[in-house]
Amino acid sequence: MEISAILTYVFLCLSILLSYLFIKKERKRKGIAKLPPGSLGWPYIGETLQLYSQDPNVFFASKQKSYGEIFKTHILGCPCIMLASPEAARFVLVTHAHLFRPTYPKSKEKLIGPSALFFHQGEYHTRLRKLVKSSFSPETTKKAIPDIEAMAISALESWATGGQVINIFQEMKKFAFNVGILSIFGHLENNYGEQLKENYCIIDKGYNSFPTNLPGTAYSKAILARRRLKHILMEIICKRKEQRLLEKDLLGHLLNFKDEKEETLTEDQIADNVIGVLFAAQDTTASAVTWILKYLHDDQKLLEAVKAEQMAIYEANEGGKKSLTWAQTRNMPLTYRVILESLRMASIISFTFREAADDVVYKGYIIPKGWKVMPLFRSIHHNPELFPFPHNFDPSRFEVPPKPNTFLAFGNGVHACPGNELAKLEILIFIHHLVTKFRWQVVGSQSGVQYGPFPIPQHGLPSRFWKEPSSVNQDAYSGY
Ligand code: HEM
Repeated sequence: MEISAILTYVFLCLSILLSYLFIKKERKRKGIAKLPPGSLGWPYIGETLQLYSQDPNVFFASKQKSYGEIFKTHILGCPCIMLASPEAARFVLVTHAHLFRPTYPKSKEKLIGPSALFFHQGEYHTRLRKLVKSSFSPETTKKAIPDIEAMAISALESWATGGQVINIFQEMKKFAFNVGILSIFGHLENNYGEQLKENYCIIDKGYNSFPTNLPGTAYSKAILARRRLKHILMEIICKRKEQRLLEKDLLGHLLNFKDEKEETLTEDQIADNVIGVLFAAQDTTASAVTWILKYLHDDQKLLEAVKAEQMAIYEANEGGKKSLTWAQTRNMPLTYRVILESLRMASIISFTFREAADDVVYKGYIIPKGWKVMPLFRSIHHNPELFPFPHNFDPSRFEVPPKPNTFLAFGNGVHACPGNELAKLEILIFIHHLVTKFRWQVVGSQSGVQYGPFPIPQHGLPSRFWKEPSSVNQDAYSGY
């Protein structure tokens, strides 16, 4: 047994070494550019252990320090090229995007649905993206303001009842899910909402678990929940077709879609994209809000300044009797800068993955076909040449627009986030109601980061909320 294990190991090492030497020789023979600097680590495991045994940001930062803006590594069984400059990220995501396809593990693709737009490129992607973008355009989302306000108030009221400790991240997931459901389906019958939530939660748990079909595992339960979710969606679609509703929400757009040959989308394509959008909208928004609440809690002077900005609007709305208007949500400059700075500091999507569809040469280096390519958003956001004193939380840095291609919280190019306006709108609305009527205190340790897989404050930032009679400190504006 031991001998066969040793032989297998030696065989693996030899084959990796030989294929490496072969690739090197071939490139030399063809006169092709060299690979970027960096280490491929140990045979097969590469540098996976180094990456996972420390803070991933420290791993990337130390590599960048040693090798510069482009370097190679080998993680999770794949050779990778990492890109840590705005120009390199732009090359992959914008100007040469056609040469780099999105890549996700098959197990994850299966849970979300292989027709979801973010797994695709080319014509199918362009068409669907147009459709998704128009469903989340300002013209559409502005109509949702009163509903989003009602959701925010109801969530905050429930948190402030009974002095309980709230896991902000987990609670914000529920809020982001409800906003997602609203933008996809409009007003959905309550029992459908609950069924979708119940099954989506099971998928969510399976998404980050080990992908095995063994009965009883989180992954296999998620696969079953995915099937049930599709049935529920089909029922909702059937009802909508019977009622001949022509809604302008995402489901309406997906149902009404026809290409130039008059072909409509299949049921699977519709279901995969509905689930895909729910997936893209939930943890991202929840983690962003959790960080915002942490940064505001850590800087009470800034919190008072945000509160003053929001109280002026609250009072103009007769103490919250009137609903927020679209124009008011467009005119919350300090709160908006706090959101941008939180997204930069936390860089919740630290990097993205693509795969080279061909051998590509960038600045004299070869990116071999089939290698993974990772633009490192966080490294760009934390580069002191682009964002001076990058570890200081300073919303005033966004008083001037960031240099082009340096603020990548919502990505860049053909796959950039089509939900970014909705995300910012729901966060602004949430903050308005939070700071004008409530206060919160973080419970327990206030430092530490947890990955799930997005970074969030430790334990989801456990906090206590309470209602407060509003007061304005006009002086607080100074300094921001
Ligand atoms: C603060 C919240 C959010 C952040 C930070 C965020 C960030 C991102 C980023 C960085 C990408 C690009 C990924 C890549 O290039 O590989 C992306 C794509 C995407 N996002 Fe968001 N997102 C947020 C909220 C939302 C919301 C609310 C929705 C929908 C309502 C949404 C829908 C999508 C979709 C559908 C894609 C894929 C686009 C494509 O492949 O063409 N996101 N998001």
